[in-house]
Amino acid sequence: MTSSSFVTVATSIPEMLETVKIDGVAFGLNLDKHATQKIYQFAIKNQCMEPNYPFPFLIDDLGEGGKLSTGHIPIRALVKDPLDCLIIRELANDQILLTLAQNYLGYFPNRISCHLTWSLATSLSSDQVEKCYPPATFHYDIAGYNFATAYFYITPVVDVESGPHAMFKGSHQKKALKMLLRSARHPVDDLYAYYGPDKMIEILGDAGFGFFQDPSCFHRVRPPIHNNRLLLQLRYS
Ligand SMILES: [Fe+2]
Repeated sequence: MTSSSFVTVATSIPEMLETVKIDGVAFGLNLDKHATQKIYQFAIKNQCMEPNYPFPFLIDDLGEGGKLSTGHIPIRALVKDPLDCLIIRELANDQILLTLAQNYLGYFPNRISCHLTWSLATSLSSDQVEKCYPPATFHYDIAGYNFATAYFYITPVVDVESGPHAMFKGSHQKKALKMLLRSARHPVDDLYAYYGPDKMIEILGDAGFGFFQDPSCFHRVRPPIHNNRLLLQLRYS
C-alpha cells in the first residue's frame, strides 16, 4: 500500500495505470476519514451556486422537497471556491494523484481544476432531470487535449438510489463514428447496443472512496433519490 497525507492506494500506482488504460477507470483510491469530514463540513458551511440560477444558497437552505424559499428546486449545487478548503488545496498537490495523472497523460499536468458538487435528491423522473441537468445523461467530456480525473465520494454512495457515477468500461478507447460526429451526449440504448450491457457499471463506495477515470469514456451521474450526494472532482490536463 502506498500512502500520502490523506490519500491511499489499495493496489499500486502502476497497477491502477494499467487498469485505466484498459477500462477507462481504476478503483482503489481512498481519502482518509478526517479529510473527508473536513470537506463535508466545508461544503455545508459554504455557499453554492446552480448553473442558470442567479442566487447563491446553502445546503441547509433547502426545505421540504429540496425547495428554496424562492420556490426554486435546484438539482445540483456547486460549492463556491473549493480551493478555499485547505484539505482540497493540499489534495490538488497530492503526490499520488499527481503521479497517476502525469503517467496517464504522459506529461506533467499544468492545469488542475477542482469541483465540489452536490447532486441533490430529487423526486423528478430521470427524463425530467436529464432535461435540466446535462451530466445526468450519458456523455463524454471533450477538452481538445488529454485529461484525467480523480473523483472522491464525500457522502456514501451505497446503492443505485444514492447517486452513483455510471460509465461504460472501455468506451474511452472505442467509439463508433456516429458517436464522434454527433453530440457528445448519447441515448443509452445506442450505448448498450454498441458496448454491451455488461460494460455499464454503476460505481458504489463509502464516503472517502475514490477512483481515477479518463473522462472521455461515456459516463453520467445517476440522480440520487433520498439523500444529497457530495462529490469532489480533481481534473488534470
Ligand atoms: Fe462529464
